[in-house]
Amino acid sequence: MENKDQMKSPTGCPISHNAAAFDVFEGEYHINPAEALKWSRDEEPVFYNPKLGYWVVSRYDDVKSVFRDNILFSPCIALEKITPAPEEAMEVLKSYGYAINRTLVNEDEPAHMERRRVLMDSFNLDELEKHKPAIQKLTKEYMDLFIDKGEADLVAEMFQDIPLIIALHFLGVSDEDAEKIRSFSVAHTVNTWGRPTPEEQMGVAHSVGNFWQVAGEIIEKMKANPDGEGWMYHTVRQHFLYPDIVTESYLHSMMMAILAAAHETTSHATSNIFRVLLENRDKWEELCDNPKLIPNAIEECLRYEGSVVAWRRQATADTKIGGVDIPSGARLLIVLASANHDERHFENPDEIDLYRDNTTEHLTFGYGSHQCMGKNIARMELRIFLEEFIKRLPHLKLKADQEYKFLPNTSFRGSSELWVEWDPDQNPERLDPDILRVKQDFKMGPPSKNEIFRRVTISDLSYEADDIIRVKIKHPSGKTLPKWSAGSHLGLIVGDYNRKYSLCGDLSDHNYYEIAILKEHDGRGGSKYFHDALKSGDMVQIVGPKNHFRLDENADHYILIAGGIGITPIIAMADRLKELNKDYSIHYAGRSLSTMAFVERLKNDHGNHLNLYPKENGLRMNLHKITGTLQAGQQIYACGPERLLNELDEMSSSWPEGTLHYEHFSSVTSELNSDHEHAFEVELMDTGITVNVSADQTVLDAILAVGIDVPYDCKEGICGTCEVDVFEGEIDHRDQVLTSSEKRKANRMMTCSSRASGNKLKLTL
Ligand code: FES
Repeated sequence: MENKDQMKSPTGCPISHNAAAFDVFEGEYHINPAEALKWSRDEEPVFYNPKLGYWVVSRYDDVKSVFRDNILFSPCIALEKITPAPEEAMEVLKSYGYAINRTLVNEDEPAHMERRRVLMDSFNLDELEKHKPAIQKLTKEYMDLFIDKGEADLVAEMFQDIPLIIALHFLGVSDEDAEKIRSFSVAHTVNTWGRPTPEEQMGVAHSVGNFWQVAGEIIEKMKANPDGEGWMYHTVRQHFLYPDIVTESYLHSMMMAILAAAHETTSHATSNIFRVLLENRDKWEELCDNPKLIPNAIEECLRYEGSVVAWRRQATADTKIGGVDIPSGARLLIVLASANHDERHFENPDEIDLYRDNTTEHLTFGYGSHQCMGKNIARMELRIFLEEFIKRLPHLKLKADQEYKFLPNTSFRGSSELWVEWDPDQNPERLDPDILRVKQDFKMGPPSKNEIFRRVTISDLSYEADDIIRVKIKHPSGKTLPKWSAGSHLGLIVGDYNRKYSLCGDLSDHNYYEIAILKEHDGRGGSKYFHDALKSGDMVQIVGPKNHFRLDENADHYILIAGGIGITPIIAMADRLKELNKDYSIHYAGRSLSTMAFVERLKNDHGNHLNLYPKENGLRMNLHKITGTLQAGQQIYACGPERLLNELDEMSSSWPEGTLHYEHFSSVTSELNSDHEHAFEVELMDTGITVNVSADQTVLDAILAVGIDVPYDCKEGICGTCEVDVFEGEIDHRDQVLTSSEKRKANRMMTCSSRASGNKLKLTL
């Protein structure tokens, strides 16, 4: 029976207890925002929070889709005071002439893109690289001040200073007022994203008013002498050239916003990264052993505990997010920290994995046209800090029993102190001063996926069936390996070969990974090489695990279909469904029992659910019969040879959408032959950029070349990672991810393989 007193959302739906109790300023969210919203990711991914008057969005795909559509989800409230000020505080602000308006952060289209385009030059990678020597010099000088002390509060003694000095230098602002700007920035955060008490509101209002005036004075000085170096000088010059685009009001608002934003998030990110790595000592030591992992470690820590926790958007029309009705005008708190821990997107999200190959897909820098412009300068600073510390203070430890304090606010997170200690007698430079000259040469921008490998050992290798070997893999020093989920695969790299294999071992055993390799006599040589060369005790490299063939665990009935070696992901799915006590059947076809892997294990573990079809025994798998009596909500998962999947694909046109899921072993995509292809244009609607795709180029490569981050993995049209929505234009689909009915809808494509049939595609990107 409905409780009459139960609170209702603006759409009239009852508000759950968890949704009503959620508090962004206190309790768990304040300590660990990702953990505080775990219940939401699992049960209620979009909910109305009456305390804040906002809809909270917690899952990765939903947060990303909000970022992606900056028309439907306007950024206009991003800098609005989340806690309204009392009348007196408003009067104080007015007395300073405070009138913060639109900046790049909270501006709608088309003005936003127009401005972003005329201001972006200083953010190209070559320009940013010029700041590297200054960051290296400052880092060394600051470390020199405490290297022999044996203890330090890294926030006070380094992490809050260097990002501020570099930010001011980048902007072209003198650092003589650095201390004042820092305290103003804190007030700006409290004013915009915090919950000051009525008494505190007055002090905050004075600080913010002062900040506004100082920002105005700096702008006036720059306008009087606009030839200086730095991004804000460039902005002033662009104001003179394009006064209607870079307006007077914009200059003043942007100066204030950027003075705070350009350093605070990097300062917080630095302290978070060091704390997280020192709390996970084995990761710290791994980095000390292999500094090449630094760029990925930075991204992984930004994912695991980023300094930007949440952002805000406002719906401009009635819509839905994650199936939940959202009314026009609704205010949204999109929680990046929660999205970054969404297990639907990241395997083992609550573990730090320095080898995670999709870690750069974290949302800490935002996504889409409003993505943080300073992300690459922040990356450069963070890499230099970490590089210097693991070189000069590898024996650094966190001081025990310290309490970490965070400023209560919705959006930014970093401890105000970080106490560390070490034994100066153990400083490596005392033994070998030359280590100070050692420098890693990281390229600018996000880390390349092609450089992220995990070294593992083959612990056991045995024949599983004719031409199939079973390979067990373990960590070289016996540590546990990251967890994996049914449907996951690994990339195995040995010699010149890099091949993908589904994991098929025991899901609960984290000491080993297990894969099965079929020797393909007509293949490209990789599987033959692995059969001939691999032996127990070999050290090999792997990528992953990652999962592009994820099992939806919410259905009640499942049909699992495997052909040949396609049994490998299917057996893991069967194990999982058994564990979940679901209704499932397995249909497994092969040439003969002797060529079919895992038959005995399947009989033992899944006997009642198993149907075998060895052709040699005259048994054929009849797909029409197997799928003939589909129950409502039934899911079909299939892996096997092309003809099996094609047949299922054709049959799926009469099934409810989302019934069939399949995984291909390999791509059929051939090399692009420019003689047979044509060039075309791709318009990126969210960013307003038009890209020319030449006849010998993929859409993905053309988009990446203009600096737009599109996630990708296989680059062969089989994994689904590079999918984008298509707004207009005829698509020449060449992937093996979308089913035929999905392709007919012509509203999405895989950018790594599919192309335009005509001269233009419009993508919502
Ligand atoms: Fe895998 Fe495009 S990157 S389908």
